[in-house]
Amino acid sequence: MRHMIDFNDMPLAEWEELYSLCSGIISSPLEYADALRGRAMASLFFEPSTRTRFSFEAAMLKLGGGVFGFSDPKASSVSKGERLKDTITMCSGYSEAIVMRSPLEGASKAASLFSSSPVINAGDGGHLHPTQTLTDLVTIRRLRGSLEGMNVGFCGDLKYGRTVHSLIKALSRFKNVTFYLISPRELSIPPYIRSFLNEHRQRYLEVTGLEATMPGLDVLYMTRIQRERFNDISEYERFRHIYVLNSAKLRHAKEDLLVMHPLPRVDEIHMDVDADSRAVYFRQAEFGMYVRMALLLTLCGMPREYPDAPGPFEGRHLCGNLGCVTGSEEYLPPLTSEIGGKTVCGYCEKEIP
Ligand code: NCD
Repeated sequence: MRHMIDFNDMPLAEWEELYSLCSGIISSPLEYADALRGRAMASLFFEPSTRTRFSFEAAMLKLGGGVFGFSDPKASSVSKGERLKDTITMCSGYSEAIVMRSPLEGASKAASLFSSSPVINAGDGGHLHPTQTLTDLVTIRRLRGSLEGMNVGFCGDLKYGRTVHSLIKALSRFKNVTFYLISPRELSIPPYIRSFLNEHRQRYLEVTGLEATMPGLDVLYMTRIQRERFNDISEYERFRHIYVLNSAKLRHAKEDLLVMHPLPRVDEIHMDVDADSRAVYFRQAEFGMYVRMALLLTLCGMPREYPDAPGPFEGRHLCGNLGCVTGSEEYLPPLTSEIGGKTVCGYCEKEIP
């Protein structure tokens, strides 16, 4: 695998290698202190971030490499109207890896078509967040010993939560995982994730109650309601306090439950849960830095490859999703794929009407 756009593009054998590299780094981080000396990572954040950006930057620094980029696109030529293709073509020439976050779905996939260095998707709108998934998989495997045979509850905003979409897709590659999808109906998983689960014959249950589901869970993955993705803010207000996990509710949970959260939390996990040994979200954030070190080490060693210019092609790629990168970057080549027998956009995976 050359780019990290979707965890499911990575063969499981490569995931195993990445996991053992990550474990090696966790046990002796200083051995890797010069591993990427003289290499540079471009950190292009078109959307706000704390953990993902800081952990990538810390990861690169701890490997002896350097970082350049922006955390606010207003401070770059993007504010002058530069197109994604040009920003990426140029930055890839300056770096051994591009870490990129965008509010547009499919933006990293689009970037990978023009980049001579590996592109890492650090979140593309409400679509995917594969390096959070790596973080989540490492957390579960280290703390539970295995990614197989477990009941995983996802709770909160399952419609817009990209970490949820990524992790559901990833966990369906491991044996005997049952998904409990806890959300109000209005914030349930997008249709393409449902098609994906059906296509891969996964066991899943869509429910609205957290407390009733809690006792059977091995992992509870809490998420915040994604305010920035709502068109109508009153809708957000309606749902923002819908699930709040507190220590009283945890009384009915298993002793070895893992309570996870990609963070930032707003108020969906009360601070009285933090002291409970089952609350692992801060450890999860720490594992994120180590697995990003492993990923950078793996991808920065790739030989530079200059992609062929896409095209020529006739017409424009048509995708009905207003949040898709193809809406504003109109030069992108048409790209489709299939999920559950339906044709979806090759960038954002939404069904093409
Ligand atoms: C998540 C994200 O950006 O999608 N945060 C993160 O990267 N750790 C979750 C969120 O913002 O709710």
